[in-house]
Amino acid sequence: MSIVTSGPAVSSRALGVLLDSWRASSSPGYAALADRIRLLVLDGRLSVGTRLPSERDLAAHLGVSRTTVAAAYAALRDAGHVTSLRGSGSVVRLPDQARAARATRSADEDDVLDFTKAAMPAVDGIAEAAQRAAGRLGAYLSEPGYDSVGRPVLREVIAARYRARGLETSAEQIVVTLGAQHAIALLARVLVGRGDRAVVETPGYPHAFEALRAAGARLAPVSVTVDEGWDESALLQTLRRTSPPVAYLMPDFHNPTGATMPEAQRVRVLEAAADEGTVVIADETMAELVVGGPRGASFTGAGAGAGAGAGAGAGAGVGAGAGAGARPLPMAAYGPAVTIGSVGKSLWGGLRIGWIRAELPLVERLVRARSAGDLGTPVLEQLIVADLLGDMDGVLEARSRQLRHGRDRLVAGLRGAFPGWSVPSPAGGLTTWVGLGAPVSSQLVLAARRHGLLLAAGPMFGVDGAFERFLRVPYSYPDDETDRALAALVAAWDGIDGVQAPRGALMAEVV
Ligand SMILES: Cc1ncc(COP(=O)(O)O)c(C=O)c1O
Repeated sequence: MSIVTSGPAVSSRALGVLLDSWRASSSPGYAALADRIRLLVLDGRLSVGTRLPSERDLAAHLGVSRTTVAAAYAALRDAGHVTSLRGSGSVVRLPDQARAARATRSADEDDVLDFTKAAMPAVDGIAEAAQRAAGRLGAYLSEPGYDSVGRPVLREVIAARYRARGLETSAEQIVVTLGAQHAIALLARVLVGRGDRAVVETPGYPHAFEALRAAGARLAPVSVTVDEGWDESALLQTLRRTSPPVAYLMPDFHNPTGATMPEAQRVRVLEAAADEGTVVIADETMAELVVGGPRGASFTGAGAGAGAGAGAGAGAGVGAGAGAGARPLPMAAYGPAVTIGSVGKSLWGGLRIGWIRAELPLVERLVRARSAGDLGTPVLEQLIVADLLGDMDGVLEARSRQLRHGRDRLVAGLRGAFPGWSVPSPAGGLTTWVGLGAPVSSQLVLAARRHGLLLAAGPMFGVDGAFERFLRVPYSYPDDETDRALAALVAAWDGIDGVQAPRGALMAEVV
């Protein structure tokens, strides 16, 4: 019995864009096509319930025989990724666990490394903070506990951190949310109307694309690269041409490239946005994850000095600017911007605490709009975070040390094993955006699954399935996992075809 119903259809043209360079592999055409569609399902680019084009239409669009498409659909049906519904054709579904494992990986299920997430284990001291918070909970138990704006104690600690980073902020400007993802979705719901444009970066953060699209936005992508940062003229032009209600940007340690927007550019972007009535949403989830050298300031305008993040702007007046070697101030110090923050990367994702910093009228709209989706943030988690945020400098320094070690190990390992790849060593954030030298990211990710390593293929981070030449690799995991991931990547790379790039010694240079 199937519980899959038929949802929206994907056209041959749209599927063709997502499939991009599916023929890069020398496996039989039907198998390569089935593999690529399977990856689109696995990484969420084709959602469950989507109706695939008819065999005839897709064959005509791709310039292959109908038999090839029919065989690909049959293979997907066998693996459980597609089901045939009478009158609806072929519909995407998620296979049951066992079938999925057989179809996509050969490694032992328990050994699977999930590198699709750029995140870290919890910092030391969370359990102790939770105990202290539990001791304080009694004071709150006589209240109903539905908290849609945030406990005053936490709002004040968050505001105080902004002040310490050089941005005047009152507790009333803070709305505590269920992580940064909830903050993005809530802002999208309040600020975006159906059919509105939303400027986004490409590559960018895929779940922000989803949240904006779910609110009805049409995405207007602007490019960011590892070496050049933001394409400023395209960004300013897009703002002027489309006057979008929102622009969602990650100005600090942009996910996935690691780029940081220079101060002067922040001013110009915020001015252009204000002229158009565009609300700039600055997602600063990564902002305090400073990793430091060896990659220096260059276009980022940001010092790469170890530990430069915490309190670097302390005492600086708003707009006074960060001096040479210091991090830029929070985006909202350079002009009107709504800011998103989170402890998901600095403390622990499992706390699910984030926030929005905004002017008071927007704070009121956000709190009013919230009840459609949730009725508030858990109190205990807020007390835990208030406890830990009061003393963040030590936490951030420890994170910085951990990340520097992880980055240097991964970067050295990748550079040693894959001399043909371009492997940046970012000054902050959790990932390196690797150039593969060939459009094989999806193929490599599928091969890596078979070696027990889950990765997000480059096209996940694009708006229209670009970035087949790139792969995002996190350096936030323990040494043994990083080493196993490197070994899996080497085995996967050796198993895919169509790549001429040379390969070096595995982990010879790992430090
Ligand atoms: C740029 C960015 N924003 C938001 C989030 C979501 O964070 P949270 O766990 O706080 O919801 C992430 C998580 O990866 C992220 O990378």
